Amino acid sequence: MKAVFALSAVAALAAKASAACWSESQGYPCCSSANAMVWFTDASGEWGVENNDWCGIPKAAASSSCWAASQGYPCCKSTSVVEYTDASGSWGIENGDWCGIVGGTTPSKPATGASTGASTGGAKGDVTVGSQYSHSGNPFKGHKFFVNPYYVDEVDKAIAQMSDSSLIKKAEKMKEYSNAIWLDNIENMNNWLERNLKDALAEQNAGSETVLTVFVVYDLPGRDCHALASNGELLANDGDMERYKTEYIDVIDEKLATYKSQPIVLVIEPDSLANLVTNLETTPACADSEKYYLDGHAYLIQKFGSYPHVAMYLDIGHAFWLGWDDNRQGAAKVYSKVIKSGSPGKVRGFASNVANYTPWEDPELSRGPDTEWNSCPDEKRYIEAMYKDFKSAGISSVYFIEDTSRNGVKNDRYHPGEWCNQMGSGIGARPQANPVSGMDYLDAFYWVKPYGESDGTSDTSAKRYDGYCGHRTAMKPAPEAGQWFQAFFEEGLKNANPPL
Ligand code: BGC
Repeated sequence: MKAVFALSAVAALAAKASAACWSESQGYPCCSSANAMVWFTDASGEWGVENNDWCGIPKAAASSSCWAASQGYPCCKSTSVVEYTDASGSWGIENGDWCGIVGGTTPSKPATGASTGASTGGAKGDVTVGSQYSHSGNPFKGHKFFVNPYYVDEVDKAIAQMSDSSLIKKAEKMKEYSNAIWLDNIENMNNWLERNLKDALAEQNAGSETVLTVFVVYDLPGRDCHALASNGELLANDGDMERYKTEYIDVIDEKLATYKSQPIVLVIEPDSLANLVTNLETTPACADSEKYYLDGHAYLIQKFGSYPHVAMYLDIGHAFWLGWDDNRQGAAKVYSKVIKSGSPGKVRGFASNVANYTPWEDPELSRGPDTEWNSCPDEKRYIEAMYKDFKSAGISSVYFIEDTSRNGVKNDRYHPGEWCNQMGSGIGARPQANPVSGMDYLDAFYWVKPYGESDGTSDTSAKRYDGYCGHRTAMKPAPEAGQWFQAFFEEGLKNANPPL
C-alpha cells in the first residue's frame, strides 16, 4: 500500500473530476462502494483502500439518498453541521439523535467528542476507552446485553408492514432483546464491528453496568461447504485464505485490541468444524475446505484467544447433527486438535444450535427408530453428552451457549435435521446467563440468529439455492440467507414460547 505522504503529494496535484469518480484524475480508481471504510481524508475527498491501493470513495451515492436509514437513523432535515464522519458519510445531530447528512459537504477532518448528545443513537464521536476489562467466570454474567441497532431497524420496518395490533405489540418487544451481530463478509465487518463496539462502549461509559456485545465471525474460505444457501465471498484457495487473514481476521483483531475495556463474545464460524466431523468423505467441497477451516481456526484462536476481555465459543452444530455417539467421538478429536492448534490462545467453550430449530428439551423422544438411534435427541441431552466427551478428550475449558432464537416450539419438520426456514417455528427462551440450575457449564441461552432473517432462498434459479430450502416444511417464498423474511418473522412472534 502506498504511504500516506506519497498520496498527499499526488493529492496536491488534484484536478477537477466528476463527483462520482473524482479520484481517477489523480491516477487512482474509485472504490467499489460508497460505504467503503475511510482510511484518509484530504481536500479532494475520502480515500479507501482496495487491492492494496488507494481508491477514492464515490461521493454521489452517499449524498443523494437517505443512506442513514439502513443503519437505523433518520436523515437530517435542517442541519448541515457535521459532527462526525465515518465510512458511510457525514453525521449531524437533530432532536438529540444522530442523523445522516444528505448531500452534505465532506469535512476536511472529522469532528470529535459528539457522543453525548445522542439519546438513542449511541456513539458516533470519540468515546473513551477505559482500562482493560477481563472476563472472570461466565462471560455472559453481570452485564447489560447490547441491542443491535440494525436489528431494531429491521423490526421497525417489519412493524410498518403489519396491521394486527397484538402482533405489533409482540414485535415491539423484540427490540428490547439482544442478538448477535454477524460479520458475514469483509464489507459488513468493516461497517459494523467498530460502530457497534463504539456504541456499546458509549452505553457502558454512560451507565453503571458493563455492556456485552456478541459478534459472529463468519467468513471462512469455502464457507458452508456441505450446503449452498450461505456460501460466502471467499473460496477455498490460498489467495482467499490470505484475504481472510489480512482483510478480515487482522482487522477484527485490531479493533478487539482497541476496545479493551468492555466485554466481548465471539461465536466462531458456524457449521465449519461440524462439517469436518461428518462430511469430509461425502462432500468434495468440504474436503477442499478442510485445510482452510483448520488454518483459519488456528490463526484466529491464537489472536483473539489472547485477549482477557474476549471470550470465544466454537460452533458445534446441534443435537441432530453431531449428537450420534460416533459423531460425538469424532467431534472430540477434531475440536481438541483445533483448540491445541490455537495455543496459547484460549477458547471459552462451544455454541450449539446456531440458527437451528432443535428444542431444548423433548421428553417424548428417546434413542430408537424415531431418532434414527440418536442418543441425544434434544439440545439438553446433547450438551450434557458433549460436556462429558470434551472433558474426557482433555479439553480444559468446556462451557456452552445455546441459541434459543428459534427453538421455542417443536415444529413438524420433515426430518429433525431440517435447517432451512422451517414452518411453524417459534421464538425460544430469552437471552440470559446461567439459565438452567445445576448445569454450571451452560453459560447462556442467547439469540445468535436474528429472528426474521432467512436461512436461504427458495428461488430454484438462484446461485445459492439449496434443495433444503425447497423441502415441504420450508416456508416459501424465501429470500436469500440473511435477508429479512417477513412471513417467517410473524409466525415466530405468534408461536413464541414463552410468549412475548
Ligand atoms: C447468512 C448470513 C447472515 C446470517 C444471519 C446466515 O445464514 O448466510 O449472511 O448474516 O445468517 O442472519
